[in-house]
Amino acid sequence: PRDLYLARENSAGLDLNDAPTVESLRHAVQDDRGTPHVACPLIDGQLRPGEPRAHRAPGNREDVVGGTVFADEEDIARALDAAARGFPSWSATPAARRALALERAAGLLQERMPGFIALIVREGGRTLPAALAEVREAIDFCRYYAQQARQHFGSPLPLPGPTGENNSLQLEGRGVFVCISPWNFPLAIFTGQVAAALAAGNTVIAKPAEQTPLTAMAAVRLLHEAGIPAGALHLLPGAGEVGAALVADPRCAGVAFTGSTTVARDIARRLAAGNGPLVPLIAETGGQNALIADSTALPEQIVRDALASAFDSAGQRCSALRLLCLQADIADRVITMLAGAMAELVIGSPEDPATDVGPVIDEEARAALERHVRGLQAHARPVHVCALDPARTSAGTYFPPQAWEIDSVVRLQGEVFGPVLHVLRWQPDELDALCDAIAATGYGLTLGIHSRIGHTVAHIRNRLKVGNTYVNRNIIGAVVGSQPFGGERLSGTGPKAGGPHYLLRFATERTLSIDT
Ligand code: SER
Repeated sequence: PRDLYLARENSAGLDLNDAPTVESLRHAVQDDRGTPHVACPLIDGQLRPGEPRAHRAPGNREDVVGGTVFADEEDIARALDAAARGFPSWSATPAARRALALERAAGLLQERMPGFIALIVREGGRTLPAALAEVREAIDFCRYYAQQARQHFGSPLPLPGPTGENNSLQLEGRGVFVCISPWNFPLAIFTGQVAAALAAGNTVIAKPAEQTPLTAMAAVRLLHEAGIPAGALHLLPGAGEVGAALVADPRCAGVAFTGSTTVARDIARRLAAGNGPLVPLIAETGGQNALIADSTALPEQIVRDALASAFDSAGQRCSALRLLCLQADIADRVITMLAGAMAELVIGSPEDPATDVGPVIDEEARAALERHVRGLQAHARPVHVCALDPARTSAGTYFPPQAWEIDSVVRLQGEVFGPVLHVLRWQPDELDALCDAIAATGYGLTLGIHSRIGHTVAHIRNRLKVGNTYVNRNIIGAVVGSQPFGGERLSGTGPKAGGPHYLLRFATERTLSIDT
């Protein structure tokens, strides 16, 4: 099995340094404007039409990407019935056939990469490279979980029978899985959750983020086309109430959720209420992620990696860097270089290949960031606040990337989901206290360590336990199968997405003992 994990390959990308390739993607975005995208409840393969709400691009509010029909109570009840009805046949479908459908889906995603990139750019406001990476990640999730299904769900695991019995352990689907996904990776996280639940033999009701249902709708249609039966995968677009009603229903046999810690807690409470079955919650939530650099680290490398970690995807990644901790004797130099590098960032339309930082998702997100920065102004020193060029940014919900020097980790209150980086200096005798203060935020998702000293790296890693530690590199963009992703404590329940144990939590384990 070890060789199997090492031997697999991830999806092919596109060369974004190649002018014709970039041009073809720009054409794909233009073509996408001619596509009438509509997301509506899709139950048993049947669309439930209705009056759609207009869906506008974060990068350009004039650009109506499509329309969404939100699920109502009747849709929720019908989807639960349909998913429960679909379960016996999908769970009895051999794992190899389930895997094949996911592999076909991966092939279709690879073929239709430009169209998906275009939709993600428009609906999610993601830049071309981010959208490309996201489609690749979705492909990788489908293939990876297909492989896992074949490996672990294909046939029962024979176990010793010292008294002459035949013992075996079989992994099977649990029932109806509710998958609630966020807007920051409208395709990859959506597809990852759904593919995992299906691979394990569950039927799925997917509730995508209300900001990005169109990409989710396109993904569901593709999965159906690839051979996932209509009865096994249902889509309910809508706001938080839809997810809340789904998880409260006794037919819900499991929940995969990615989003805020607050909503994860709310789901956990709803699952615990009532007299329904005991249901697992797989939650991947936020982070208060730090990068600690000591004086042996290379300043150019720190700046390059901090910039990517904090501002890629406009900081709208749960893995993104929020706190850059610099050993005092290199701090001035790094801070000067960081400010200089930030001044070069191009903030603008996600469709423009020159753009480094695109918009934030909506007005609500922008307002929350503005509130946070107003709070910082009272006690923090600005390192750099990027200027917005109105010609590039006035049409959408843009927020200037910025860095602020703070004097203590306790200044960080809650997760700030956007392009705001906090910088903190530390003295050598403060390293342990710094690690403890970061741990005391309660989050445990990603951590960066920049140091050339092996025992410093080991010491920090040992003191500050998180899900994903990155040494001398950036802290974003975990690769499926190579860097299983997910955190602990306030950051999530595990298991890790794109890792070898992910599917197990989507399954039930049944032991069979036969006296011979
Ligand atoms: N998996 C993403 C990353 O590693 C975050 O969700 O950046």
